[in-house]
Amino acid sequence: MHVFTYHNPTQIFFGKGQINAARRAIPEKNRVLVLYGGGSVKKNNVLDQVRAALNKHTFAEFGGIEPNPSYETLMSAVELARREKSDYILAVGGGSVIDGAKFVAAAVPFKGADPWSIIEKHTPISKALPISCVLTLPGTGTESNGNLVISHKEKGIKLGYYNHLLYPVFAILDPTATYTLPPKQIGNGIVDAFVHVVEQYMNLCENAIVQDRYAESLMRTLIEVGPQTLKHPLDYESRANFMWAANQALNGLIGVGVTQDWSTHGIGHELTALYGLDHGQSLAAILMQNWQINRKAKHAKLLQYAARVWHLPIVDEEAAITEAMAKTAAFFESMGLKTSLKALGVEAAAADIIPERLQQMGFTALGTRGEVTPYVARQILLASLE
Ligand code: NZQ
Ligand code: ZN
Repeated sequence: MHVFTYHNPTQIFFGKGQINAARRAIPEKNRVLVLYGGGSVKKNNVLDQVRAALNKHTFAEFGGIEPNPSYETLMSAVELARREKSDYILAVGGGSVIDGAKFVAAAVPFKGADPWSIIEKHTPISKALPISCVLTLPGTGTESNGNLVISHKEKGIKLGYYNHLLYPVFAILDPTATYTLPPKQIGNGIVDAFVHVVEQYMNLCENAIVQDRYAESLMRTLIEVGPQTLKHPLDYESRANFMWAANQALNGLIGVGVTQDWSTHGIGHELTALYGLDHGQSLAAILMQNWQINRKAKHAKLLQYAARVWHLPIVDEEAAITEAMAKTAAFFESMGLKTSLKALGVEAAAADIIPERLQQMGFTALGTRGEVTPYVARQILLASLE
Protein backbone atom coordinates (compact mmCIF):
# COMPACT_ATOMS: atom_id res chain seq x y z
CA MET A 1 0.00 0.00 0.00
CA HIS A 2 1.39 3.46 -0.92
CA VAL A 3 1.69 6.45 1.40
CA PHE A 4 -1.56 8.46 1.51
CA THR A 5 -3.42 11.36 3.08
CA TYR A 6 -7.16 11.02 3.47
CA HIS A 7 -9.55 13.81 4.32
CA ASN A 8 -13.17 13.89 3.18
CA PRO A 9 -14.84 16.99 4.63
CA THR A 10 -18.41 16.36 3.39
CA GLN A 11 -21.03 15.82 6.09
CA ILE A 12 -23.73 13.31 5.09
CA PHE A 13 -27.40 13.50 6.10
CA PHE A 14 -28.79 10.12 5.10
CA GLY A 15 -32.35 8.81 5.12
CA LYS A 16 -36.01 9.62 4.66
CA GLY A 17 -37.00 13.15 5.67
CA GLN A 18 -33.46 14.51 5.75
CA ILE A 19 -34.03 17.31 3.23
CA ASN A 20 -35.15 19.46 6.12
CA ALA A 21 -31.62 19.26 7.55
CA ALA A 22 -30.67 22.00 5.07
CA ARG A 23 -32.53 24.48 7.32
CA ARG A 24 -29.96 24.27 10.10
CA ALA A 25 -26.95 23.18 8.08
CA ILE A 26 -26.87 26.43 6.04
CA PRO A 27 -26.31 29.53 8.19
CA GLU A 28 -29.31 31.87 7.99
CA LYS A 29 -27.11 34.83 7.09
CA ASN A 30 -26.14 33.20 3.79
CA ARG A 31 -27.75 34.19 0.49
CA VAL A 32 -28.40 30.90 -1.24
CA LEU A 33 -28.57 30.10 -4.96
CA VAL A 34 -30.53 26.88 -5.53
CA LEU A 35 -29.55 25.09 -8.76
CA TYR A 36 -31.55 22.35 -10.42
CA GLY A 37 -31.88 20.52 -13.75
CA GLY A 38 -34.61 20.07 -16.32
CA GLY A 39 -37.52 19.87 -13.91
CA SER A 40 -37.62 16.38 -12.35
CA VAL A 41 -37.27 17.98 -8.91
CA LYS A 42 -40.42 20.00 -9.54
CA LYS A 43 -42.46 16.95 -10.50
CA ASN A 44 -41.43 14.83 -7.53
CA ASN A 45 -41.80 17.52 -4.89
CA VAL A 46 -38.12 17.53 -3.95
CA LEU A 47 -37.77 21.22 -4.85
CA ASP A 48 -40.80 22.07 -2.70
CA GLN A 49 -39.18 20.30 0.24
CA VAL A 50 -36.01 22.34 -0.33
CA ARG A 51 -38.00 25.58 -0.53
CA ALA A 52 -39.75 24.71 2.72
CA ALA A 53 -36.42 23.97 4.43
CA LEU A 54 -35.09 27.37 3.29
CA ASN A 55 -38.14 29.42 4.24
CA LYS A 56 -36.07 31.50 6.68
CA HIS A 57 -33.25 32.04 4.19
CA THR A 58 -32.90 34.49 1.32
CA PHE A 59 -32.59 32.41 -1.81
CA ALA A 60 -32.80 32.56 -5.60
CA GLU A 61 -33.29 29.69 -8.04
CA PHE A 62 -31.71 28.71 -11.34
CA GLY A 63 -33.13 25.77 -13.32
CA GLY A 64 -32.24 24.20 -16.64
CA ILE A 65 -28.84 22.61 -16.01
CA GLU A 66 -28.73 19.86 -18.61
CA PRO A 67 -27.27 16.32 -18.41
CA ASN A 68 -23.52 16.62 -19.05
CA PRO A 69 -23.74 20.23 -17.89
CA SER A 70 -22.44 22.84 -20.26
CA TYR A 71 -20.11 25.71 -19.50
CA GLU A 72 -22.46 27.95 -21.50
CA THR A 73 -25.52 27.24 -19.30
CA LEU A 74 -23.46 27.42 -16.13
CA MET A 75 -22.13 30.86 -17.01
CA SER A 76 -25.74 32.13 -16.94
CA ALA A 77 -25.98 30.76 -13.40
CA VAL A 78 -22.72 32.51 -12.53
CA GLU A 79 -24.20 35.82 -13.76
CA LEU A 80 -27.32 35.29 -11.67
CA ALA A 81 -25.26 34.44 -8.58
CA ARG A 82 -23.22 37.61 -9.00
CA ARG A 83 -26.36 39.72 -9.54
CA GLU A 84 -28.08 38.23 -6.50
CA LYS A 85 -24.89 38.45 -4.41
CA SER A 86 -25.30 34.76 -3.61
CA ASP A 87 -22.68 33.43 -1.24
CA TYR A 88 -23.83 29.78 -0.94
CA ILE A 89 -24.71 27.27 -3.66
CA LEU A 90 -27.21 24.46 -3.07
CA ALA A 91 -27.47 21.89 -5.87
CA VAL A 92 -30.65 19.82 -6.09
CA GLY A 93 -30.40 16.99 -8.61
CA GLY A 94 -28.13 14.36 -10.12
CA GLY A 95 -24.45 14.38 -10.95
CA SER A 96 -24.84 16.99 -13.66
CA VAL A 97 -26.48 19.57 -11.41
CA ILE A 98 -23.98 18.96 -8.61
CA ASP A 99 -20.95 19.08 -10.92
CA GLY A 100 -22.37 22.24 -12.48
CA ALA A 101 -22.86 23.76 -9.03
CA LYS A 102 -19.21 23.11 -8.21
CA PHE A 103 -18.17 24.99 -11.33
CA VAL A 104 -20.45 27.90 -10.39
CA ALA A 105 -19.00 27.89 -6.86
CA ALA A 106 -15.49 28.20 -8.29
CA ALA A 107 -16.41 30.67 -11.02
CA VAL A 108 -18.35 33.28 -9.01
CA PRO A 109 -15.37 34.58 -6.98
CA PHE A 110 -12.92 34.02 -9.89
CA LYS A 111 -11.14 37.25 -10.85
CA GLY A 112 -9.70 36.16 -14.22
CA ALA A 113 -11.30 36.85 -17.59
CA ASP A 114 -12.92 33.47 -18.21
CA PRO A 115 -13.57 30.78 -15.56
CA TRP A 116 -13.23 28.08 -18.24
CA SER A 117 -9.47 28.49 -17.79
CA ILE A 118 -9.88 26.94 -14.32
CA ILE A 119 -10.92 23.70 -16.03
CA GLU A 120 -8.84 23.74 -19.18
CA LYS A 121 -5.66 25.47 -18.05
CA HIS A 122 -5.86 24.68 -14.34
CA THR A 123 -5.61 28.37 -13.48
CA PRO A 124 -5.23 28.26 -9.68
CA ILE A 125 -8.16 29.31 -7.49
CA SER A 126 -7.76 30.33 -3.89
CA LYS A 127 -11.42 30.22 -2.93
CA ALA A 128 -14.84 28.95 -3.95
CA LEU A 129 -18.32 29.59 -2.59
CA PRO A 130 -19.50 26.89 -0.18
CA ILE A 131 -21.54 24.32 -2.06
CA SER A 132 -23.90 21.66 -0.69
CA CYS A 133 -26.33 19.30 -2.35
CA VAL A 134 -29.52 17.27 -2.27
CA LEU A 135 -28.87 14.16 -4.38
CA THR A 136 -31.64 12.72 -6.56
CA LEU A 137 -29.67 10.25 -8.71
CA PRO A 138 -27.11 7.95 -7.05
CA GLY A 139 -24.13 6.91 -9.18
CA THR A 140 -21.53 9.59 -9.76
CA GLY A 141 -20.40 9.99 -6.14
CA THR A 142 -20.02 13.73 -6.79
CA GLU A 143 -22.09 14.48 -3.67
CA SER A 144 -19.02 13.88 -1.51
CA ASN A 145 -15.98 14.36 -3.68
CA GLY A 146 -14.08 17.30 -5.17
CA ASN A 147 -14.53 16.29 -8.83
CA LEU A 148 -16.56 17.83 -11.60
CA VAL A 149 -16.95 17.06 -15.29
CA ILE A 150 -18.30 19.73 -17.62
CA SER A 151 -18.74 20.16 -21.33
CA HIS A 152 -17.81 23.14 -23.45
CA LYS A 153 -20.41 22.99 -26.20
CA GLU A 154 -18.71 25.38 -28.57
CA LYS A 155 -15.37 23.58 -28.32
CA GLY A 156 -17.08 20.17 -28.34
CA ILE A 157 -15.10 18.85 -25.36
CA LYS A 158 -15.90 17.31 -21.98
CA LEU A 159 -13.29 17.75 -19.26
CA GLY A 160 -12.86 16.60 -15.68
CA TYR A 161 -11.38 18.69 -12.87
CA TYR A 162 -10.58 18.22 -9.19
CA ASN A 163 -10.10 20.73 -6.41
CA HIS A 164 -10.22 20.14 -2.69
CA LEU A 165 -12.13 23.43 -2.32
CA LEU A 166 -15.08 21.86 -4.17
CA TYR A 167 -16.08 19.11 -1.78
CA PRO A 168 -19.68 19.75 -0.77
CA VAL A 169 -20.03 21.07 2.79
CA PHE A 170 -22.90 18.64 3.25
CA ALA A 171 -24.84 16.19 1.10
CA ILE A 172 -28.42 15.10 1.73
CA LEU A 173 -29.10 11.52 0.63
CA ASP A 174 -32.82 10.79 0.95
CA PRO A 175 -33.53 7.56 -0.96
CA THR A 176 -37.18 8.56 -1.44
CA ALA A 177 -35.99 11.50 -3.58
CA THR A 178 -34.87 8.89 -6.15
CA TYR A 179 -38.19 7.02 -6.46
CA THR A 180 -39.13 8.84 -9.66
CA LEU A 181 -35.98 7.83 -11.56
CA PRO A 182 -36.72 6.18 -14.89
CA PRO A 183 -35.23 2.66 -15.29
CA LYS A 184 -32.60 3.98 -17.70
CA GLN A 185 -31.14 6.29 -15.06
CA ILE A 186 -31.17 3.55 -12.41
CA GLY A 187 -29.15 1.40 -14.81
CA ASN A 188 -26.77 4.27 -15.56
CA GLY A 189 -26.27 4.96 -11.86
CA ILE A 190 -25.63 1.35 -10.86
CA VAL A 191 -23.15 0.81 -13.69
CA ASP A 192 -21.39 4.14 -13.10
CA ALA A 193 -20.89 3.30 -9.41
CA PHE A 194 -19.71 -0.21 -10.32
CA VAL A 195 -17.16 1.15 -12.78
CA HIS A 196 -15.93 3.65 -10.18
CA VAL A 197 -15.07 0.70 -7.97
CA VAL A 198 -13.46 -1.09 -10.90
CA GLU A 199 -11.25 1.89 -11.83
CA GLN A 200 -9.79 1.82 -8.31
CA TYR A 201 -9.69 -1.97 -7.93
CA MET A 202 -8.91 -3.72 -11.22
CA ASN A 203 -5.24 -2.87 -11.20
CA LEU A 204 -2.35 -4.36 -9.23
CA CYS A 205 -2.26 -6.64 -6.20
CA GLU A 206 -0.74 -4.23 -3.69
CA ASN A 207 -1.62 -5.76 -0.35
CA ALA A 208 -4.30 -3.16 0.31
CA ILE A 209 -6.52 -5.68 2.01
CA VAL A 210 -9.09 -3.24 3.43
CA GLN A 211 -9.50 -1.41 0.11
CA ASP A 212 -9.80 -4.68 -1.84
CA ARG A 213 -12.30 -6.29 0.52
CA TYR A 214 -14.37 -3.12 0.73
CA ALA A 215 -14.35 -2.66 -3.05
CA GLU A 216 -15.51 -6.27 -3.44
CA SER A 217 -18.32 -5.74 -0.95
CA LEU A 218 -19.47 -2.62 -2.82
CA MET A 219 -19.50 -4.54 -6.11
CA ARG A 220 -21.43 -7.42 -4.51
CA THR A 221 -23.91 -4.91 -3.08
CA LEU A 222 -24.48 -3.25 -6.46
CA ILE A 223 -24.94 -6.64 -8.16
CA GLU A 224 -27.53 -7.50 -5.50
CA VAL A 225 -29.49 -4.26 -5.27
CA GLY A 226 -29.36 -3.22 -8.94
CA PRO A 227 -31.94 -5.74 -10.19
CA GLN A 228 -34.02 -5.33 -7.00
CA THR A 229 -34.20 -1.58 -7.56
CA LEU A 230 -35.37 -2.05 -11.14
CA LYS A 231 -37.94 -4.64 -10.13
CA HIS A 232 -39.30 -2.88 -7.03
CA PRO A 233 -39.00 0.86 -7.71
CA LEU A 234 -40.60 1.83 -4.40
CA ASP A 235 -38.58 -0.50 -2.17
CA TYR A 236 -36.84 1.77 0.32
CA GLU A 237 -34.19 -0.72 1.45
CA SER A 238 -32.79 -1.44 -2.01
CA ARG A 239 -32.77 2.28 -2.86
CA ALA A 240 -31.02 3.09 0.40
CA ASN A 241 -28.33 0.47 -0.17
CA PHE A 242 -27.86 1.58 -3.80
CA MET A 243 -27.50 5.18 -2.69
CA TRP A 244 -24.98 4.41 0.04
CA ALA A 245 -22.93 2.00 -2.11
CA ALA A 246 -22.70 4.56 -4.92
CA ASN A 247 -21.58 7.18 -2.44
CA GLN A 248 -18.88 4.96 -0.94
CA ALA A 249 -17.67 3.98 -4.40
CA LEU A 250 -16.32 7.45 -5.15
CA ASN A 251 -15.84 9.32 -1.89
CA GLY A 252 -12.13 8.61 -2.08
CA LEU A 253 -11.97 5.86 0.53
CA ILE A 254 -11.36 2.73 -1.57
CA GLY A 255 -8.86 4.58 -3.76
CA VAL A 256 -6.40 5.53 -1.04
CA GLY A 257 -2.95 3.97 -1.22
CA VAL A 258 -3.64 2.01 -4.40
CA THR A 259 -2.81 2.45 -8.09
CA GLN A 260 -5.85 3.60 -10.09
CA ASP A 261 -6.87 3.33 -13.72
CA TRP A 262 -9.60 5.71 -15.07
CA SER A 263 -8.95 4.86 -18.73
CA THR A 264 -12.54 3.65 -19.20
CA HIS A 265 -13.74 7.05 -17.95
CA GLY A 266 -11.22 8.89 -20.14
CA ILE A 267 -12.43 7.18 -23.30
CA GLY A 268 -16.06 7.29 -22.09
CA HIS A 269 -16.01 11.10 -21.80
CA GLU A 270 -14.95 11.29 -25.45
CA LEU A 271 -17.86 9.04 -26.44
CA THR A 272 -20.25 11.34 -24.59
CA ALA A 273 -18.74 14.50 -26.09
CA LEU A 274 -18.93 13.11 -29.63
CA TYR A 275 -22.00 10.90 -29.67
CA GLY A 276 -24.05 12.09 -26.68
CA LEU A 277 -23.99 8.72 -24.91
CA ASP A 278 -25.15 8.84 -21.27
CA HIS A 279 -22.15 8.64 -18.97
CA GLY A 280 -23.01 5.19 -17.51
CA GLN A 281 -23.74 3.84 -20.98
CA SER A 282 -20.42 5.10 -22.33
CA LEU A 283 -18.61 3.05 -19.67
CA ALA A 284 -20.66 -0.13 -20.16
CA ALA A 285 -19.85 -0.08 -23.88
CA ILE A 286 -16.07 -0.31 -23.43
CA LEU A 287 -15.24 -1.81 -20.02
CA MET A 288 -15.17 -5.46 -21.11
CA GLN A 289 -13.10 -4.57 -24.17
CA ASN A 290 -10.67 -2.59 -21.98
CA TRP A 291 -10.29 -5.61 -19.66
CA GLN A 292 -9.80 -7.90 -22.63
CA ILE A 293 -7.10 -5.75 -24.25
CA ASN A 294 -5.29 -5.32 -20.90
CA ARG A 295 -6.02 -8.83 -19.71
CA LYS A 296 -2.38 -9.84 -19.15
CA ALA A 297 -1.53 -6.80 -17.03
CA LYS A 298 -4.72 -7.23 -14.98
CA HIS A 299 -4.47 -11.04 -14.75
CA ALA A 300 -3.98 -11.42 -10.99
CA LYS A 301 -6.69 -8.91 -10.11
CA LEU A 302 -9.15 -10.35 -12.64
CA LEU A 303 -8.63 -13.73 -11.03
CA GLN A 304 -9.24 -12.32 -7.54
CA TYR A 305 -12.38 -10.65 -8.90
CA ALA A 306 -13.64 -13.92 -10.43
CA ALA A 307 -13.17 -15.76 -7.14
CA ARG A 308 -14.35 -13.16 -4.65
CA VAL A 309 -17.01 -11.18 -6.49
CA TRP A 310 -18.55 -13.93 -8.64
CA HIS A 311 -17.52 -16.85 -6.38
CA LEU A 312 -16.23 -18.83 -9.36
CA PRO A 313 -14.11 -21.93 -8.77
CA ILE A 314 -10.58 -21.41 -10.11
CA VAL A 315 -9.79 -24.63 -11.94
CA ASP A 316 -8.64 -23.09 -15.19
CA GLU A 317 -7.52 -19.48 -14.59
CA GLU A 318 -8.26 -18.14 -18.06
CA ALA A 319 -11.67 -19.81 -18.16
CA ALA A 320 -12.57 -18.27 -14.78
CA ILE A 321 -11.58 -14.80 -15.99
CA THR A 322 -13.57 -15.23 -19.19
CA GLU A 323 -16.61 -16.27 -17.18
CA ALA A 324 -16.25 -13.36 -14.74
CA MET A 325 -16.19 -10.97 -17.70
CA ALA A 326 -19.24 -12.60 -19.23
CA LYS A 327 -21.10 -12.33 -15.91
CA THR A 328 -20.18 -8.66 -15.61
CA ALA A 329 -21.47 -7.97 -19.12
CA ALA A 330 -24.69 -9.89 -18.37
CA PHE A 331 -25.15 -7.81 -15.20
CA PHE A 332 -24.80 -4.56 -17.16
CA GLU A 333 -27.22 -5.84 -19.80
CA SER A 334 -29.70 -6.84 -17.08
CA MET A 335 -29.56 -3.20 -15.95
CA GLY A 336 -30.68 -2.17 -19.44
CA LEU A 337 -27.31 -1.03 -20.81
CA LYS A 338 -25.53 -2.14 -23.96
CA THR A 339 -22.04 -3.59 -23.70
CA SER A 340 -20.67 -2.69 -27.12
CA LEU A 341 -20.52 0.36 -29.35
CA LYS A 342 -21.72 -1.82 -32.20
CA ALA A 343 -24.99 -2.46 -30.35
CA LEU A 344 -25.34 1.30 -29.87
CA GLY A 345 -24.82 2.00 -33.57
CA VAL A 346 -21.78 4.21 -33.04
CA GLU A 347 -19.92 4.97 -36.29
CA ALA A 348 -16.76 3.00 -37.08
CA ALA A 349 -14.84 6.27 -37.45
CA ALA A 350 -14.93 6.60 -33.63
CA ALA A 351 -11.89 4.31 -33.49
CA ASP A 352 -9.89 6.90 -35.42
CA ILE A 353 -11.40 10.13 -34.13
CA ILE A 354 -11.17 9.40 -30.39
CA PRO A 355 -7.48 8.36 -30.24
CA GLU A 356 -6.67 11.48 -32.26
CA ARG A 357 -8.53 13.66 -29.76
CA LEU A 358 -6.87 11.94 -26.81
CA GLN A 359 -3.51 12.64 -28.45
CA GLN A 360 -4.36 16.32 -29.01
CA MET A 361 -5.47 16.80 -25.41
CA GLY A 362 -2.36 15.11 -24.06
CA PHE A 363 -4.18 12.07 -22.65
CA THR A 364 -1.50 9.77 -24.02
CA ALA A 365 -0.82 7.49 -21.05
CA LEU A 366 -4.11 6.48 -19.40
CA GLY A 367 -4.59 3.24 -17.47
CA THR A 368 -2.95 1.60 -14.48
CA ARG A 369 0.61 2.25 -15.60
CA GLY A 370 0.05 4.52 -18.57
CA GLU A 371 -0.36 1.56 -20.91
CA VAL A 372 -3.56 2.91 -22.50
CA THR A 373 -1.92 5.03 -25.18
CA PRO A 374 -4.04 6.40 -28.04
CA TYR A 375 -3.00 3.27 -29.95
CA VAL A 376 -4.36 1.00 -27.19
CA ALA A 377 -7.51 3.14 -26.92
CA ARG A 378 -7.99 2.41 -30.62
CA GLN A 379 -7.74 -1.33 -29.99
CA ILE A 380 -10.38 -1.04 -27.26
CA LEU A 381 -12.71 0.95 -29.51
CA LEU A 382 -12.19 -1.41 -32.45
CA ALA A 383 -13.02 -4.40 -30.23
CA SER A 384 -16.23 -2.69 -29.12
CA LEU A 385 -17.20 -1.73 -32.66
CA GLU A 386 -16.65 -5.12 -34.31
O1 NZQ B 1 -32.57 17.33 -15.37
P1 NZQ B 1 -33.64 16.64 -14.61
O2 NZQ B 1 -35.01 17.02 -15.01
O3 NZQ B 1 -33.43 16.73 -13.12
O4 NZQ B 1 -33.57 15.07 -15.02
C1 NZQ B 1 -32.41 14.28 -14.82
C2 NZQ B 1 -31.65 14.02 -16.11
O5 NZQ B 1 -32.48 14.07 -17.22
C3 NZQ B 1 -32.87 12.91 -14.42
N1 NZQ B 1 -33.11 12.77 -12.97
C4 NZQ B 1 -32.26 13.01 -11.95
N2 NZQ B 1 -32.83 12.72 -10.77
C5 NZQ B 1 -34.09 12.30 -11.06
C6 NZQ B 1 -34.27 12.34 -12.45
N3 NZQ B 1 -35.43 11.98 -13.05
C7 NZQ B 1 -36.44 11.57 -12.26
N4 NZQ B 1 -36.33 11.49 -10.90
C8 NZQ B 1 -35.18 11.83 -10.27
N5 NZQ B 1 -35.08 11.69 -8.94
O6 NZQ B 1 -31.81 12.06 -14.80
C9 NZQ B 1 -31.19 12.58 -15.97
C10 NZQ B 1 -29.70 12.43 -15.87
O7 NZQ B 1 -29.21 13.24 -14.82
P2 NZQ B 1 -27.64 13.51 -14.66
O8 NZQ B 1 -27.44 14.36 -13.47
O9 NZQ B 1 -27.06 13.96 -15.95
O10 NZQ B 1 -27.07 12.02 -14.40
P3 NZQ B 1 -25.86 11.52 -13.52
O11 NZQ B 1 -26.13 11.64 -12.08
O12 NZQ B 1 -25.54 10.18 -14.07
O13 NZQ B 1 -24.67 12.53 -13.84
C11 NZQ B 1 -23.91 12.42 -15.00
C12 NZQ B 1 -22.81 13.47 -15.03
O14 NZQ B 1 -21.89 13.29 -13.93
C13 NZQ B 1 -20.55 13.18 -14.43
C14 NZQ B 1 -20.77 12.56 -15.80
O15 NZQ B 1 -19.64 12.68 -16.63
C15 NZQ B 1 -21.98 13.32 -16.30
O16 NZQ B 1 -21.60 14.58 -16.81
N6 NZQ B 1 -19.70 12.44 -13.49
C16 NZQ B 1 -19.28 13.09 -12.39
C17 NZQ B 1 -18.41 12.51 -11.49
C18 NZQ B 1 -17.93 13.24 -10.31
N7 NZQ B 1 -18.19 14.54 -10.19
O17 NZQ B 1 -17.28 12.66 -9.43
C19 NZQ B 1 -17.89 11.16 -11.66
C20 NZQ B 1 -18.56 10.38 -12.73
O18 NZQ B 1 -17.63 9.44 -13.23
C21 NZQ B 1 -19.11 11.17 -13.87
O19 NZQ B 1 -18.09 11.44 -14.82
ZN1 ZN C 1 -18.38 7.68 -13.71
